[in-house]
Amino acid sequence: MSVYDITKPLLFKLSPETAHSLAHRGLGVVEGTPLATLLERAFVVEDERLAVSAFGCDFPNPVGVAAGFDKTAEVPGALRSMGFGHVEVGGVTAQAQAGNARPRVFRLVEDRAIVNRMGLNNPGADDVGPRLAETDVAYPVGVNLGKSEGVPLDEAAKDYRYTYEQVATGGDFFVVNVSCPNSPGFRELQSREPMADIFETLTEAGASPLLVKLSPDLSEGAIEDALELVAEYDLDGVVATNTTTDRPDTLSSPDRVEEGGLSGKPLEGQATELVRFVAERTDVPVVGVGGVFTAADAYRKIRAGASMVQVYTGFVYRGPTIARDINRGLVTLLERDGFDSVEDAVGVDL
Ligand code: FNR
Repeated sequence: MSVYDITKPLLFKLSPETAHSLAHRGLGVVEGTPLATLLERAFVVEDERLAVSAFGCDFPNPVGVAAGFDKTAEVPGALRSMGFGHVEVGGVTAQAQAGNARPRVFRLVEDRAIVNRMGLNNPGADDVGPRLAETDVAYPVGVNLGKSEGVPLDEAAKDYRYTYEQVATGGDFFVVNVSCPNSPGFRELQSREPMADIFETLTEAGASPLLVKLSPDLSEGAIEDALELVAEYDLDGVVATNTTTDRPDTLSSPDRVEEGGLSGKPLEGQATELVRFVAERTDVPVVGVGGVFTAADAYRKIRAGASMVQVYTGFVYRGPTIARDINRGLVTLLERDGFDSVEDAVGVDL
């Protein structure tokens, strides 16, 4: 029985958003204090076999925190103390925005899933940028870049560029989010022209390493188009995937009918298949996201071609030990299968 087994029922009595702010504030209290060192001793798994180098960054282990968890970039240090190998902060937009009306996050407990329609609420690039620039942590910090609400598609590239320029000093890698299902018209950014425009503008601005985060709902043709642009603009990686607007028949929780993006266990297979699809068609590193709860889940994505994984919903359901448990479990799986490192296992199932 872990401490989280006791606290989770209490946290789950609160609304998901209240529980999240409480957890985020708790991490904020830990950030930069001696408590962080104590957490580090409990949660960080030191093992060279877990280290991953990708797009010029050195990751101590392959388990990151997905975008959306630390939208304000206030707790990258505390998340490192909890054993993660990187965090992708944000989504950040050029303008501060409040997001959609509440309630906008729903736990689908029976399905080990979440539906959210946050709508990219965040304090804006002018707020996040300076804080990030002062953040000094011992692992790579990525920044998820989104489009401000109300900015038309043909002005999107300029809007992304502004955000990038504010977070450029503090970020170690940058992820173009064109796949958020919760803002009207947002996923149209995944069509060829707007995406090319954004990639061109950001690469001209010097954004590097630059990755793109794709939706699991794209058609094969649209994914192939996106990958052509990844090659054309010499992008450094692909994050697969964002949440899905699909609702598999297997869902049983009452809140499955809520509008928004579905994450967690029901997304896992679809996300792994997109990792595989992308890894088969490109040489750039793939970051696998969607339904990773355990070491076995992470290992499946790695074997399907992911250089790293990220977690969000798994963090909510499994709690603060998730990075430690996945990292420990990965070492065991690597030993079982005779791999010397995570990097040796990347894509072996392709
Ligand atoms: C997200 N996700 C997300 N993605 C993104 O690119 N920008 C964002 O701002 C957010 N915000 C966000 C908020 C909430 C409440 C959730 C649950 C998710 C998507 C997230 O990064 C990830 O891609 C999916 O959640 C799938 O991974 P999991 O949750 O199944 O591990």
